[in-house]
Amino acid sequence: MSTPGAATQDAASIKPATGKLGIMIPGMGAVATTLIAGVEAVRRGLAKPIGSTTQMGTIRLGKRTDGRSPLIKDFAPIAQLDDLVFTGWDIFGGNLYDAAKTAQVLDRDQLESIRPYLESIEPIPAVFDQHYVKRLTAKKAKTGKNKCDLANQIRNDIAEFKTKTDRQVMIWCGSTEIFLEQAAVHQTLEAFEKGLVDDDPGITPSMMYAWAALKEGIPFANGAPNLTVDVPALVELSKKMNAPICGKDFKTGQTFIKTVLAPAFKTRLLGISGWYSTNILGNRDGEVLDDPESFKTKEESKLGVLDYILQPELHPDLYKDIYHKVRINYYPPRGDNKEGWDNIDIFGWLGYPMQLKVDFLCRDSILAAPLALDLCLFLDLASRTPSLRGLGIQEWLSFYFKAPQTAPGVYPEHDLFIQQMKLKNTLRHIMGEDLITHLGLEYYGE
Ligand SMILES: NC(=O)c1ccc[n+]([C@@H]2O[C@H](COP(=O)([O-])OP(=O)(O)OC[C@H]3O[C@@H](n4cnc5c(N)ncnc54)[C@H](O)[C@@H]3O)[C@@H](O)[C@H]2O)c1
Repeated sequence: MSTPGAATQDAASIKPATGKLGIMIPGMGAVATTLIAGVEAVRRGLAKPIGSTTQMGTIRLGKRTDGRSPLIKDFAPIAQLDDLVFTGWDIFGGNLYDAAKTAQVLDRDQLESIRPYLESIEPIPAVFDQHYVKRLTAKKAKTGKNKCDLANQIRNDIAEFKTKTDRQVMIWCGSTEIFLEQAAVHQTLEAFEKGLVDDDPGITPSMMYAWAALKEGIPFANGAPNLTVDVPALVELSKKMNAPICGKDFKTGQTFIKTVLAPAFKTRLLGISGWYSTNILGNRDGEVLDDPESFKTKEESKLGVLDYILQPELHPDLYKDIYHKVRINYYPPRGDNKEGWDNIDIFGWLGYPMQLKVDFLCRDSILAAPLALDLCLFLDLASRTPSLRGLGIQEWLSFYFKAPQTAPGVYPEHDLFIQQMKLKNTLRHIMGEDLITHLGLEYYGE
């Protein structure tokens, strides 16, 4: 059912998506190269943007009998793929053709067809510190007298890119950093900026990129599970600068499936006694995650989802004693083609046990690239939308993350279909359309 009067936003107040949208990517490895090569292939009509909500998704407007379901990109003023310009940073030399070849995600023929384009993009030397990513050694990194100096060098890179583009978005596709908990330096912007000068160990490279972007009024998304902008200081900066932020860690393989299956069990009130998830993957991400400190960051992000979805405090008989384990094993022969197994022990009527096994032979970066694209386009939309740009956290983008970011005291929604409804209702809301609640009584009245 539609909610009359729920449409409050004046769609005309959203600035149009004219001009070039610059996408800035710290970390130009498998996901980033698959994204950029993919956008170029789509632009040339060589492939379809499968998996992207902004490119292929539709949105129902009005009643089910109205027959109005435009493509999202025709409904909301989203930047066109032809207007995207890419840049980024990495610690490896070479250009994006070399990086894409190393990543071994896309076929050789496909890469050859867009080779000159990929060769034209060279990552800028990065801000990197091996303390935070133990398994990598930098070939090209910036040097500076302290973290503030380094972060300001990133701001200079951004300023340079601003001369070539009309609007910008930053998305972290860099490696997973070691596990960090919030500390005093993260509590206020003032403490954070002092911490930059004092070289506080609580400030990681990903936070320095995020700070630089937000300081420049540029929205920031985080594809990795790092703490990054999930701290009060950077939420404060995001609001102050009208530069939107969202959650962390792309919800791609196993967690994507987990957040589909768990709500299904809960909806039928089936109990769960155990959920064992294990993965093998052999890409560089797998190598980085082989370090226990980086794995811990990923583990926290992957473990969080079940508790929130199942709400064991409301359903102690069904979910109080669940044994949940997540393993990631680095196994080089598989490269980017991950295999994720889930063994789920469930129980039904009168407590009788059952089992479900899932074996997902997926391609990590093929699943992640369209999410990265959507995030860039939606964050750009948010930054042009008066009712969204000053909010800081964009909870409506939870759909894309293993660890959605929310206002303090608000628990995150992990159920994929609730997340999708939230996303689409936000689009309806900002475009002045009625929200859809699915009540549907109006079809049965007089
Ligand atoms: N592919 C997926 O399905 C998926 C899903 C969820 C999260 N992620 C996360 O996305 C990130 C990227 O994944 P990937 O498969 O592309 O990994 P990758 O290892 O291929 O690429 C990461 C790149 O980041 C670079 N890097 C590390 N620290 C940097 C820094 N400080 N500045 C600039 N560059 C830096 C590395 O050199 C590397 O080239 C990882 O953190 C991964 O955990 C990926």
